[in-house]
Amino acid sequence: MTQTSKTTSYNDIPYESFPFQQTHPDRLATIAKLFGLQSPNVETCKVLEIGCASGNNLLPMAEYLPNASFLGIDLSPNQIDEGNKLLKVLDLPNIELRCQDILDFNEETKFDFIIVHGIYSWVPAPVQEKILAISKKNLSPDGVAYISYNVLPGWHMRGMIRDMMLYHSGKFPDSDSKIKQAKGLLEFLSKSVQGDKNPYGLFLKSELEILKKQNDSYFFHEFLEEHNFPVYFHEFSSAVNRHGLKYLGDSDVRTMSTRDLTPEAQQLLTKTPSMIETEQYMDFLRNRMFRTSLIVHDNKNPIYNLNSAAIVNFNVTSTLTPAEQNMDLHSANPANFIAHDGTTIGTTEPLIKAALLCLFESSPNSMTTAEIIEGACKKLGSKPPVAAEEIAKVTAQIGQTLITAYTSLPVGSLELTTRPINRSSPISSKPRAFKLAQIQAGMIGMVTNPRHQMIRLGDFEKVLLPMLDGKTTITEINQNFKDLVNANKIVVKDNGIQADATRVGEIIQQQVENALKTLAKNGMLVD
Ligand SMILES: C[S@@+](CC[C@H](N)C(=O)[O-])C[C@H]1O[C@@H](n2cnc3c(N)ncnc32)[C@H](O)[C@@H]1O
Repeated sequence: MTQTSKTTSYNDIPYESFPFQQTHPDRLATIAKLFGLQSPNVETCKVLEIGCASGNNLLPMAEYLPNASFLGIDLSPNQIDEGNKLLKVLDLPNIELRCQDILDFNEETKFDFIIVHGIYSWVPAPVQEKILAISKKNLSPDGVAYISYNVLPGWHMRGMIRDMMLYHSGKFPDSDSKIKQAKGLLEFLSKSVQGDKNPYGLFLKSELEILKKQNDSYFFHEFLEEHNFPVYFHEFSSAVNRHGLKYLGDSDVRTMSTRDLTPEAQQLLTKTPSMIETEQYMDFLRNRMFRTSLIVHDNKNPIYNLNSAAIVNFNVTSTLTPAEQNMDLHSANPANFIAHDGTTIGTTEPLIKAALLCLFESSPNSMTTAEIIEGACKKLGSKPPVAAEEIAKVTAQIGQTLITAYTSLPVGSLELTTRPINRSSPISSKPRAFKLAQIQAGMIGMVTNPRHQMIRLGDFEKVLLPMLDGKTTITEINQNFKDLVNANKIVVKDNGIQADATRVGEIIQQQVENALKTLAKNGMLVD
């Protein structure tokens, strides 16, 4: 490992940073609480992001959590300048983006959440040590740090590709030709390795498919960067322990379960003496190459037996959609609910069907367990339980499903939060969208929602959002759209074909109304 600490490549090839839902304080606080720990108040938390690039992960958090405060540091002045330009327009008082080397960070402030995404494996040993030292010194007593890194054994396979690309691209002077040549080499190898069933050839082909989808900036920094030091999970865990910290869990809690493994593997893993060993063997079984670990102070004692009654500590939000419209709630016929990636969760239990349906109808607003029970009973035409014993029984029954869904479905399908999430906002006569969304819509056609997800906008919303500045009335917005149609800048469609001139005004009015309702429902409008 080289001992240089500075890397300037991010100045030359900026990293396209995005919001990353798994780093959000809501998620970190929930996982701590799920494992029996006290967790910081998300609304008023202090967050530090180390290696924040241009701040695209922190800026939306800062706008949607106005009473929390955020500090992002990064070595690259160009990236920090870019973030600060955006910050100037957003005029947010609760965030600072600072150009600073990790090695020079000497603050005394305690942070409730420390985020280190995509840095640890990509910096030399002294910087890795400093990241862990900051995570100890600057983490508040109940704080949670998030650190992501490349892991072995999975990265041995990627590393092999990296080595070949580094060898080949090293002959070329500038980064553009290095990227082109490295991609060209992989394409050449995947086409030229002989034999249809050759495992090496199949691996190269599958990697090529994955890498084709990555942008040049990611590709360069992941494969052609000077530093890339994957570690085994047990090595990372030991390094964390040396700093007076301990591993809490993974930000994707699904990966902590053995559910996807063979029965034999599940059985054997019950015999491992520690959770660290279990997780290490799971990496061997899955050939894992990337981890997103949550870290806490080593005086914490997480409890990993998830208790279904603990659901009362959380607010629940679900984006699970019923597979069929007219679900038979009362019978024991199976009913399925579908997650955004197509994964389904099924049940034959009337109470659970009704509970998931209530959550679907309330989305994107959260419900407490008491509200879910009341809503589910109402749907089934029964009275909510009154006796403590009966309430506990129903809570445990619903809790079992919700905790299973949270720990087994993709991030974002069913969320548990430590605070209520009530996103619907009224539509004023001069609607105002969050400022970052107004800017992102015009610039990249995607916006970050309050759940910290990037949403791709339709053509109509891309034009509408920048008009939602709190000064323009809905009548003026409708007129703006008509002007754009008259100037042939946009086309309004009626049942998929260009609308007749006589219908344009009416269709615009309807589309503006519908789009505003959707934005309001998703909490994208400021009250
Ligand atoms: C792979 S990027 C990840 C950026 C961002 N966290 C994300 O995931 O989108 C790594 C970042 O770490 C920053 N970095 C590398 N070494 C650093 C150091 N010694 N001090 C501060 N930042 C550093 C780089 O400038 C770059 O922005």
